[in-house]
Amino acid sequence: MNIAANIGPALALDVADGESIAELRHQADGCTRCDLYRNATQIVFGEGSVKAEIVLVGEQPGDQEDLSGRPFVGPAGRLLDRCLEEAGLDRRRCYVTNAVKHFKFTPRGKRRLHAKPNAGEIRRCAWWLGAELNILQPKLVVTLGASALYALLGPKVKLTPERGRILHPENRPPVLVTIHPSYLLRIRGEADQHRQRRDFVSDLHKAAEYRPQ
Ligand code: URA
Repeated sequence: MNIAANIGPALALDVADGESIAELRHQADGCTRCDLYRNATQIVFGEGSVKAEIVLVGEQPGDQEDLSGRPFVGPAGRLLDRCLEEAGLDRRRCYVTNAVKHFKFTPRGKRRLHAKPNAGEIRRCAWWLGAELNILQPKLVVTLGASALYALLGPKVKLTPERGRILHPENRPPVLVTIHPSYLLRIRGEADQHRQRRDFVSDLHKAAEYRPQ
């Protein structure tokens, strides 16, 4: 497959215009580009070093992120932090964000169950992700899971065959493809969980070691 030609909505030209991450965050506060703002507590914008060379992109905020307003602070975020540490990648060197910036959920009694964002929601929200990338100009983008991969490289590039590879879309930052840490939390078998976690740390280690040619 010609990866160079696969540009997802966040790498397209139709994205927000902003001078700084702070300005974008301010603009995004009132975002009504899709319906997810209606039920979410608040927008969860990206955060981290504005000098970051590595941008980590997740799917969407979860319950705890929605309440706190910060990305990756819940169970998946804590696991991500541990794996980053094992991989030798300091989260403070990174900028952490999501493909979709409002929590999508299904109410179940008092609980709010994660619901996967659809392609339209990801496309709408790529308006912000693309603008974050334009400002940060990272040397590498790490996609955590299928939604982030869709936002960066579109529908044709699939997670399983590309997992662990660094792909090079034309005139755009390279993209390292890996799984979402919440996948590790769902694996039941101990051996499988161990193997997948080790491979995830190894993918993050590639990001830590990456030097553009
Ligand atoms: N999962 C994500 O994809 N992003 C978060 O911020 C938290 C959990």
